[in-house]
Formats: sequence, structure tokens, C-alpha cells
Amino acid sequence: MDYYENVLGLVGHTPLVKLNRLNKGLKPLILAKMENLNPGFSVKDRIGISMIDAAERAGILKPGGTIVEATSGNTGIGLAIAASVRGYQCIFVMTDKASVEKSRYLKALGADVVITPVSAKPGTPDHYVSTARRIAAETPNSFYPDPYSHPANPEAHYRTTGPELWEQTEGKMTHFVSGIGTGGTISGTGRFLKEKNPNIRIIGADPFGSIYKTYKETGTIPETTPYLVEGIGQEVLPANAHMQYVDEVLNVSDHDSFETARQLGPIAPRHCGSRAIWTKTPSSSSSFATPANTISRNSTLTNG
Ligand SMILES: Cc1ncc(COP(=O)(O)O)c(C=O)c1O
Repeated sequence: MDYYENVLGLVGHTPLVKLNRLNKGLKPLILAKMENLNPGFSVKDRIGISMIDAAERAGILKPGGTIVEATSGNTGIGLAIAASVRGYQCIFVMTDKASVEKSRYLKALGADVVITPVSAKPGTPDHYVSTARRIAAETPNSFYPDPYSHPANPEAHYRTTGPELWEQTEGKMTHFVSGIGTGGTISGTGRFLKEKNPNIRIIGADPFGSIYKTYKETGTIPETTPYLVEGIGQEVLPANAHMQYVDEVLNVSDHDSFETARQLGPIAPRHCGSRAIWTKTPSSSSSFATPANTISRNSTLTNG
């Protein structure tokens, strides 16, 4: 019989698909890594398992334990799926900017969801991270994974996403394009790909208003301004954003993000992981990459 022991066996090994519409008139081969085909519909399933594994190994997470996290949604979903298989409770703190269907989905997976105002500044008591930290401190036998600093986040991509891309493209890829949220995906995948071939260019997509582009170019953290795209961009520099593996950061507008998500059509009917790669065919110029993350928000595709 051919079966998986549980749903966690379905995480990763996502296929690559050629983006024919975005490719139109362009020479490069542009492929999307279909992270939306993970059980929780995003790349974050990978780090849900890896952070829980690490906590179990370290004896931090014990039977009957509770996972508390501040999330824009997808990390919560990844954690909730792994938690339900392993028998843990979950409490997630989200801002009121996160899409309603993400919080509904988390609740359907058995998690408690706490909503905080997106306007709360980092460090203030109402900020979603401060709120999650407080709940974790008040909850006995709890684990606060913190994907912004947990080494198991970039490590999951170093161990899985990077090697998958390398094998799937037979080592021919020339560019990897990814959104940057916690920095885990681009840091872990970028590190693996750079070790395989230092000439592969690692490119980050960063919303206008976020810090990554300015930080990469000047080493300083600018004032941030609001944007609608969910899940990528940052107000402060997370420990997991190892920018030495990133060659270039490009700003993306809300309009372009939403419009690109729409153009993806059937590739992103609900969610599409932010994985994107550029490959170079032996003879030609270049071949390339994709979009940012997409997820539906009240029937409108958005990044996140
Ligand atoms: C679906 C999805 N892709 C990518 C990202 C950003 O990737 P990372 O946090 O690894 O930088 C996020 C962040 O929340 C996300 O939800």
C-alpha cells in the first residue's frame, strides 16, 4: 500500500510550473514553485514542522503543550497543522489587517485567535508580537516559536526548499526571487543555492514602505509606511534575515502585487507561495522567475 503516515508527509516537494502569461514576449524561462500545494496552502508548512521538531528535541514542547505565535496567518496555519497531528493546543495573535479567511481557517484547525490593531507600533503592549509574548508568558507549558529569530526557520529552507529547487532545475537556475517577511525563505534557500553556485542571483521582493531595500542598499533602517500586501516586508530587521545571501532587493507596489496575482490566473486561485526562480537555459540569455505570494482576501488576490 502506498500512503503517508499523516498529512505532514505531504509538506514540501512542491512542483515547478512555467508561468506562460508572465513569460509572454520574454526570453527567460520563468517558473513558479507551487508552495500553495502544501497541505496548509503555503511555504510556511515547512517551518511549522521544523520549529515544532526543534522544540520537541530541546524538550521545550512537552505533551499537552500550547503553541503561541504572532502570525500574519500562514505560519499559524503551518504550526496549527503540525500541532493538530502532534496533539498540541495553539493560540495565534494576528492583526486586523490579516485576511478574515486566514483567521477562520486557523479556528477551523482548532486554534484560538486573538486580533490586535495593525496600527499598534512595535514594542507597544497592543502590538501583535508583544501580545503574543505576553500570552506565552502567562500560559503554562507554552512554546513561543518566533519565526523571526528561530534558526529552524531558515534551516528548513536550507534543508528542503533549496535542495528541491536545485534538483528540479538540474542545477541550471540562474536567479531565485522571493518575498522577504521573516527572511527565512530567502536566507535559507539563498544560502543553499549560493553554496551550490555563487553566481545564482538571489533577489528579494519588498513592498514600498518596508525596510529591506533601504537596509540592503545603505545598512540603515528607514521609517516605514503602510502597505496592503500581507506577510512580506518588515518594520524592524529580524535575526533571520541574513542579507548577505541576498544580492538585490526590489520594491513592489500594492498595485503591481495584486495585479500580478490576478494575472497568474489558475496558478494562484487561492494561494501561491512566494517562491520564484529564474533559470538559464544552456544556450540562451536568461530564463526567469515569478511573483510574490498570493492569497485571497475576500475574493481579491493579494500577497501574503
Ligand atoms: C505565504 C508566504 N510566503 C512567504 C512569506 C515570507 O517569507 P519569509 O517569512 O520566509 O521571509 C510569508 C510570510 O508570512 C508568507 O506568508
